[in-house]
Amino acid sequence: MAKAQTVIPQACEQSIVTPKNTGRYLWLPIQESAPEGKVQVIVNGMLLMEQNVRMAREQVDYYVALDLQPYHGKEALRICVQNVPTGSVCFKKLVQNDDADYALIDEKFRPLYHHTPKRGWMNDPNGMFYKDGTWNLYYQYNPYGSMWGNMHWAHSTSTDLIHWKNEGVALTPDVWGTMFSGSCVVDRGNVVAMYTASRPTPFGGDVQAQCIAFSNDGGKTFTKYEGNPVLTAEDKDFRDPRPFWNEDVKAWNLILAVGQEMRIYSSPDLKTWKYESSFGKEYGNHGGVWECPDLFPLTQTTKQPNDQTTKKWVLLCNINPGGPFGGSATQYFVGQFDGHKFTCESMPKVTKWLDYGKDHYATVSFYNAPDNRHTVLAWMSNWQYANQVPTKQFRSANSIPRDLGLFTCGEETYVSVVPSKEMLAVRGAKAKKPTEACEILVDVKGQAEIVLSNAKGEQVIMKYDAAKQTFCMDRTKSGDVSFSEAFPCVTTAPTYGQIKQLRLFIDRCSIEAFDADGKMAMTNLVFPSEPYNNIKVKGGKVTIYEIKY
Ligand code: FRU
Repeated sequence: MAKAQTVIPQACEQSIVTPKNTGRYLWLPIQESAPEGKVQVIVNGMLLMEQNVRMAREQVDYYVALDLQPYHGKEALRICVQNVPTGSVCFKKLVQNDDADYALIDEKFRPLYHHTPKRGWMNDPNGMFYKDGTWNLYYQYNPYGSMWGNMHWAHSTSTDLIHWKNEGVALTPDVWGTMFSGSCVVDRGNVVAMYTASRPTPFGGDVQAQCIAFSNDGGKTFTKYEGNPVLTAEDKDFRDPRPFWNEDVKAWNLILAVGQEMRIYSSPDLKTWKYESSFGKEYGNHGGVWECPDLFPLTQTTKQPNDQTTKKWVLLCNINPGGPFGGSATQYFVGQFDGHKFTCESMPKVTKWLDYGKDHYATVSFYNAPDNRHTVLAWMSNWQYANQVPTKQFRSANSIPRDLGLFTCGEETYVSVVPSKEMLAVRGAKAKKPTEACEILVDVKGQAEIVLSNAKGEQVIMKYDAAKQTFCMDRTKSGDVSFSEAFPCVTTAPTYGQIKQLRLFIDRCSIEAFDADGKMAMTNLVFPSEPYNNIKVKGGKVTIYEIKY
């Protein structure tokens, strides 16, 4: 283990650390309850980068890495720590070494088959695309702590949507701001990322502007466009660009969230954008800010009378707060889009939710997915308590991959959600009891009640009410619910007809429930003190499969 560094306190609120010439990582000790200090990298008197870090004052909760590789060998490299009292414990506990796994904590709530960051904070999935057999996932990332801040884009890749390889950071903050959410497109073999740069103004509030970056190596590294930003406005909450090629009009379209509406633009080259129209006024739920949009066509084949196919456009609109059970959630609209304007086919007051759990947000689809699939991932948390959930060195996971389609009930067309077929490939041996990573199938014939529990008396109760056509999940006694008043709750979903089979995916701290036909999805976090290893079912037949991870 490397030795602590020499710290020369310069002034009460400013300390200067001189790293050694060897050792790629400078490990910064973090105390989550400490206020944010500033950690600055200074080379020869020039400020190269600066991050907000909760440097430990009295106790060390975990470590984060400051990667010194880009600065090694530079003249007069100094790390300046501000707003941290000089006697703070962090100065005695700094470590420098080459061990990327230094002080990694084996956490009981780290999911086994869901995507998570190894360390640090994660929120929205960003820039997801498929190319040459690889699924690429970027995400909102704070490398310097397990709470939101210092937004970067980090990158992971997978060939099966389940096993993810950590590819490191892809976009770092610059003078235009920190890297907020956005999307990637694949254009003639190149990958182009469009994202929001967000920065505080000296006069209060934030400025958000849209920028682009190019990758010639399939998304591993990006070069930011020198003409950034490419789209600016004076509006507050102007973010989360989703560009896509629209073959119908042979142009690029862009959908962007602005306050409580979605704006649509068009472009010949992804650099110059023409405003086309806005959608949202009086439509759907307006309990919060509209964020992370997506817009794509889905086709529906009606069996009767002659296998007719209908193409409809779906506009995904993530909203925070305003979700059906408080906080964040994903609503959507079904309609038509002609390259200029989105027209919703429902009455304005109709609100449709993609998932009726509390922990399903920022859902967007993979660009360029094969076989005309519309595969999505959601961030499995809720802004009401995402920063407080009881994990330590990392926070948040993504949902399992899901594929979208359309179905009709009465006069309305809805989006169906099923676990992606890749989830079948990881089905393992049959198990007698639930395990910490399993899939539970329940064949139901009418009313059903499912209770998952452990020896500590912690339990999750699920009920399917065939008469009311609802499914609900009660996590009020599921384990640790103490970290937020908004956490204990019962979530209820419409099932739009009868359910024949339920599919439940358990992974240590999450339960994702689906109607196997796709008419209902519900995603909820749970933090049991030990895994639920008992299941009682009334009104259904249970089969349990282990999941191979
Ligand atoms: C949604 C969101 C986005 C924003 C990002 C910042 O969760 O608020 O609108 O770009 O998170 O991390």
